[in-house]
Amino acid sequence: MEFFDLVKNRRSVRKYKDQHVNKEDILKILDAANWAPSAMNWQPWEFIVVSGELIKSMGDSFKAVVEKIMHESEETAFDEKFVDFAARYGGAPVVIVVLTRASEKPNVRKANLESTSAAMENLVLAATNLGLGTCWMTGPLHDENNLRRILGISPDKEIVAVTPLGYPDEVPEPRPRLDAELKQKVRWLGY
Ligand SMILES: Cc1cc2nc3c(=O)[nH]c(=O)nc-3n(C[C@H](O)[C@H](O)[C@H](O)COP(=O)(O)O)c2cc1C
Repeated sequence: MEFFDLVKNRRSVRKYKDQHVNKEDILKILDAANWAPSAMNWQPWEFIVVSGELIKSMGDSFKAVVEKIMHESEETAFDEKFVDFAARYGGAPVVIVVLTRASEKPNVRKANLESTSAAMENLVLAATNLGLGTCWMTGPLHDENNLRRILGISPDKEIVAVTPLGYPDEVPEPRPRLDAELKQKVRWLGY
């Protein structure tokens, strides 16, 4: 797909077909992620590719947390559909957990998070290019302790994001841009 179309066609997919994703395609997507720029060329990202029963364990655990948040707050963004998505990662056959190297130093931590976010963006765009859906998620971090336990993530790693991966069953409408004409978001100096 042409690059600018690709950027605009990517959507956060929350419902997936029960259709196998080739390991070759997953590797292509992760290779694109691995080509992201990184501070000091540290390439601090790592990926855990999850399928099968473990997705169910992650979903059950995340669902319990989402339900707790729902009951304790007036959070209106969480409806039944949201809980269903949390519980099954939208029925995706694959979930990818994106990690970075943890650091106590705020500037190193920031650099690692930014570098790994660049890898994450490459990942979601590469998936889109192969006709696959993703949904960049930080919500599962509400359940970080359980997620770490289920996946055996050591304390020297920080979880950056989680995404389901699969063939979209429902593709949402594009979300309108807050400043489509870039009148407020851009300040041109010296032009
Ligand atoms: C850092 C980050 C965290 C996000 N976390 C979640 C999440 O936990 N759950 C979710 O359903 N979507 C999540 N999203 C997806 C956004 O809701 C989505 O990108 C936004 O609504 C725009 O829709 P689009 O991605 O289809 O353009 C997240 C996106 C980003 C970049």
